[in-house]
Amino acid sequence: MDTAEVRRRFLAHFEAGEGVGAHTVVPSASLLLDDPNLLFVNAGMVQFKPYFLGQETPPYSRATSIQKCIRTPDIEEVGKTTRHGTFFEMCGNFSFGDYFKEGAITLAWDLVTKSIADGGYGFDESILYPSVLEGDDEAVALWKRITGLPDDRIVRLPPKENYWSMGIPGPGGPCSEILIDRGPAFGADRDWDAGDRYLEFWNLVFMQDDISAARSKYDVDIAGPLAQTGIDTGLGLERVAYLLQGKDNMYEIDVVYPVIAKAMELTGKKYGAQYEDDVRFRVVADHIRSSMMLINDGVTPGNEGRGYVLRRLLRRAIRNVRLLGYEDPALPELMPVSRDKMGETYTDLHTEWDRISRVAFVEADA
Ligand code: SER
Repeated sequence: MDTAEVRRRFLAHFEAGEGVGAHTVVPSASLLLDDPNLLFVNAGMVQFKPYFLGQETPPYSRATSIQKCIRTPDIEEVGKTTRHGTFFEMCGNFSFGDYFKEGAITLAWDLVTKSIADGGYGFDESILYPSVLEGDDEAVALWKRITGLPDDRIVRLPPKENYWSMGIPGPGGPCSEILIDRGPAFGADRDWDAGDRYLEFWNLVFMQDDISAARSKYDVDIAGPLAQTGIDTGLGLERVAYLLQGKDNMYEIDVVYPVIAKAMELTGKKYGAQYEDDVRFRVVADHIRSSMMLINDGVTPGNEGRGYVLRRLLRRAIRNVRLLGYEDPALPELMPVSRDKMGETYTDLHTEWDRISRVAFVEADA
């Protein structure tokens, strides 16, 4: 299933909102939202924060979106694991005082396990493991009732894995994730920390706690229950895409791999032949896409803040192409390939191309 179809099915599922109510489809926000706690938008809920914090009244009580996200703390891991990408898209459904745990679990399980012929993702439920926060007996009971799975298929995990807040006073709550078992080649049986074996691909956050102090996302003081509960979920678009495309990682999906293919053509090296080169190919594909999306949203290279992140991405991309043996300017060859794939969804990449290419290619010459 191509990535465009994964997107389409997600939005259609929540637009219908069977049994719960139709969700309003909200376009992705820019990667650059004004938020003192964030350099870049890093989750689907960011544009809805004022609603969750009670600062603004939402114009809808249910919403769904596919949000562009950037996360760079793991930049050194890119290409080495099957999971890390600096740019990714998060599919989400949101409830603002409307449905809660039961609705969120029902809708998620339905989409994930419904057959492909019936509009779902068609995952085999015998390899799916829902996880809950230790002690969240309500979620355990709901998962068992809704899915019919036995108790030992519901994984209890500590707060570090399954508690979510914004890391500031405000709403937060336990999470449930859906993990998929990719088989013994990826790690030991029931070793939940072996991230490549039990791959988490959907996180459902049950916003129920009023947090008075937060030392981290999961180390918090809870003042009491929230006046109004909420749902915030995040499904990794690329993760679903690579699982459904029979690929090992996010760099090989239909909207990313063509950059690797072009890099092979330029460098004469083969992807899949040697580990160090493979990491370089993946870094190139990831960073080309991230930097293009950042420039599209208005970032220019600089020496601090957002501009510094962009500069680092561009320079790392160029360095890795050189390490693969191509010395000529590579961005004018590679970035249009990424534009043509991502531009099917983000059509402004085409209309803004003059500006984007000017900013990117000048930096490359610097
Ligand atoms: N906010 C949660 C996350 O970032 C779910 O969307 O994982």
